[in-house]
Amino acid sequence: MSQERPRTTISVIKADIGSLAGHHVVHPDTMAAAAKVLAEAKSKGIIIDYYVTHVGDDLELIMTHRKGVDSPEVHEVAWNAFQEAAKVARELGLYAAGQDLLAEAFSGNVRGLGPSAAEMEIVERPSEPIIVFMADKTEPGAFNLPLFRVFADPFNTAGLVIDPKLHGGFKFEIYDVIEGRYVVLNAPEEMYDILALIGTPGRFVIRRIFRKSDDEIAAVVSVERLNLIAGRYVGKDDPVAIVRAQAGFPAVGEILEAFAFPHMVAGWMRGSHFGPLMPVSQRHARCTRFDGPPRLVALGFQVKNGRLIGPSDLFDDPAFDETRRLAQLIADYIRRHGPFMPHRLGPEEMEYTTLPEVLEKLKNRFKEAKLYEVKGPKVKTELLSSSRG
Ligand code: 13P
Ligand code: 13P
Ligand code: MG
Ligand code: MG
Repeated sequence: MSQERPRTTISVIKADIGSLAGHHVVHPDTMAAAAKVLAEAKSKGIIIDYYVTHVGDDLELIMTHRKGVDSPEVHEVAWNAFQEAAKVARELGLYAAGQDLLAEAFSGNVRGLGPSAAEMEIVERPSEPIIVFMADKTEPGAFNLPLFRVFADPFNTAGLVIDPKLHGGFKFEIYDVIEGRYVVLNAPEEMYDILALIGTPGRFVIRRIFRKSDDEIAAVVSVERLNLIAGRYVGKDDPVAIVRAQAGFPAVGEILEAFAFPHMVAGWMRGSHFGPLMPVSQRHARCTRFDGPPRLVALGFQVKNGRLIGPSDLFDDPAFDETRRLAQLIADYIRRHGPFMPHRLGPEEMEYTTLPEVLEKLKNRFKEAKLYEVKGPKVKTELLSSSRG
């Protein structure tokens, strides 16, 4: 693509700054406070356009600008918007006011300070359809399964087989969020290696996807894991993603198709349970039952000269009713496990909640068991684990 054409950056930055009725829903006054900050930034020319919305208790800022990803100026605008919104949240006594604002002061980039960000810089095509996905009560790895299906599974995406522009496949940039490293793997050639990693979504997270033929960016996911940043449980890392559609990328319908299966994701009540990811309209982007089930919203935009045209509320459609119904059935089924795995997350994830305290408290009441000699490496969570050897 031509380098003279201006580059547009789409930044989706979100934070939970406090909510109405527990972890249920963002209050409109906090959204208004954030929107005011973005309006000022737009009038100063820092950003070109914006759209403020929410999914459950997460305040979502969708912005366009010319400053590239990780722009300190744009991140500061987002940080200030969250601060202003959190101020209102405190005034109203909203629940967990300032929840995701882990730092006292801004230091150049929101990453590591609590908010999550998905950003991509592109040269706009003459028509540039994008989908912004925003989820509540789950984690970034929740996008692993559907994004794999969109960009690597021909049973989901017909274009991988029949569109010459997609036929070459895509590259997956996968982050190891525990070890702080990443690897880039090619689909379809390395499909099994990709799956070997991303099948562990709490650790290996798809961050970006590129079209192999020309390295054009196709998708980006926020990968921040709040508990790893804070060192303790501070709510789930309710993620966002941006996906480009059509004309050399999967069609909008191929992208949405991957979400017709309400797959199991980590999150839900206290960020500690598996449950089905339910695609919903904006109106229904409010978690209720057991603080869930985890919800996903998809907004479709056209980006034109940096302007955000739209959005269209893509899951506001009876075509997803059966997905939602299946999600309810799965919710009923898995809820009956109460505090048992596999409804409750495994010990690795629970290390950030109360389980270490329970173990510590019971430390002296454990007696050595001499049923047989335990060989092999001692794992930290051995006493809790029923699923690991
Ligand atoms: P594009 O022309 O954008 O590739 O889309 C083809 C299509 O109609 C998909 O359903
Ligand atoms: P959030 O991560 O959406 O704030 O949810 C926290 C929680 O504990 C829900 O039960
Ligand atoms: Mg919350
Ligand atoms: Mg949330």
